[in-house]
Amino acid sequence: MELEIDRLAYGGSGLGRTVDGLVIFVEDALPGQRVVAQIRKVKKHFAYARLTEVLRQSPQACEPRCAHFGSCGGCRLQHLDYAAQIAAKSEQVRDILERIGGFDDPPVEPAIPSPALYGYRNKMEYSFGDVRWLEPDEMEEPQSVPDRDFALGLHPRGRWNRIIHLRECHLPSPRSVEIMKLVQESTGKSGLNPYTTKTNTGYWRFLVVREGVRTGQWLVDLITSDEPKARGEVDALARRIKAVFPEVTAITHTTSRSKAAVATGDEVRVLVGPGYIEEEIGGLRFRISPRAFFQTNTAGAERLYREARALAGLGGDELVYDVYCGTGTIALLMAAQAGRVVGFELEPSAVADARANAELNGLENAEFVQGDAAKMLREGPVWGEPDVIVLDPPRAGLLPDVRRLVPGLGASRIVYVSCNPTTLAADLSEICMNGYRLRIVKPLDMFPHTPHVECVSLLTRR
Ligand SMILES: C[S@@+](CC[C@H](N)C(=O)[O-])C[C@H]1O[C@@H](n2cnc3c(N)ncnc32)[C@H](O)[C@@H]1O
Repeated sequence: MELEIDRLAYGGSGLGRTVDGLVIFVEDALPGQRVVAQIRKVKKHFAYARLTEVLRQSPQACEPRCAHFGSCGGCRLQHLDYAAQIAAKSEQVRDILERIGGFDDPPVEPAIPSPALYGYRNKMEYSFGDVRWLEPDEMEEPQSVPDRDFALGLHPRGRWNRIIHLRECHLPSPRSVEIMKLVQESTGKSGLNPYTTKTNTGYWRFLVVREGVRTGQWLVDLITSDEPKARGEVDALARRIKAVFPEVTAITHTTSRSKAAVATGDEVRVLVGPGYIEEEIGGLRFRISPRAFFQTNTAGAERLYREARALAGLGGDELVYDVYCGTGTIALLMAAQAGRVVGFELEPSAVADARANAELNGLENAEFVQGDAAKMLREGPVWGEPDVIVLDPPRAGLLPDVRRLVPGLGASRIVYVSCNPTTLAADLSEICMNGYRLRIVKPLDMFPHTPHVECVSLLTRR
């Protein structure tokens, strides 16, 4: 059917309506386009469609930079002008807070753009796979593509069992891609196969490359199956990486016995350097271990944390809880303006980093506790009654227990940092039903050209 696309929905699809009002999400379509779309799935109140032809181009369309655009699942909005991406993200947050959170005219500010539009990602997680995804030009002569059973790169959109053998990527700095290409070449010749979840066999699993943008330090984590006989191959690869890229200050080898396709492991061997890198944010230095969460857009994170600290409205004496604190970034950036900060975090290596970071920065009024947030908040009074609570949960948002417990802790301010507006909306709604008022929501674009959006919000006690 022919459709006018009037906006970009959260998730990155263009949104159009049939004459009788049915909402159609059209993958890859842009606001302002008139398109021909083929319906793929019909639900009660909406349908999903595939873009088959653009009849009228959008004035906001632009030329994508990457050769893999269209196949790669990494960034899907490169063909939309950046100002339009930002406007769409503000609108999406407002819409979600109204629809899911039930807020009437929510106090959403215009989204803050990312300081850099390309080369902004300080961490890339490349995957190995035994089925190489062939791009349109390669499909013309598939038999001429070498090593079709070996690939290192990123997944095509929605195809978790295929890998694009990446030639370029503009999200990290160019050095990350150069390191990945060296690993592509060396592992491809190693005689060891990529791991496959089909049979749970094979060796190479993931390559994680992390950059300390402000410190110039680099970390490479090679993630493989647990096969002691193959370790020599990893050691040789580490030596080669270090020889070609002397700026790589840390190389680790993580082995995994898990059958799941996630870049984590059971055991970490440190092959080069201290096993972690450091980054600078807001004048403080942070140690980051391979397993620890760290915001992937360094300059964007600095802006995010500055906004969060301003919303906390600290006067110097407050007790601040930083729930889901990771390596302690927010807690430590607030410590200088607070009486005391307590960070809560599940991942043990992140807690170790947070404690080391407090010491590294000479901050003595910060403590970090390891464990599940819900369990620890139940014991809340052990750490004192908080004046300010910072929440920065994973994408799934707050667990029901945490949602229930937070309002009962009596803080005068809650600063909620979120990477998922849908769970944010539901959480804010419940916190507001229990004695708080939503004052402000600031979307920030930490992930240009992707559908993701970060938000920082302030709630105050009624
Ligand atoms: C979005 S990150 C925020 C980290 C930190 N605030 C920052 O900006 O770097 C979410 C953090 O929550 C942690 N986490 C996940 N589930 C948790 C739980 N049940 N209890 C405590 N922490 C948890 C993760 O390990 C991760 O470090």
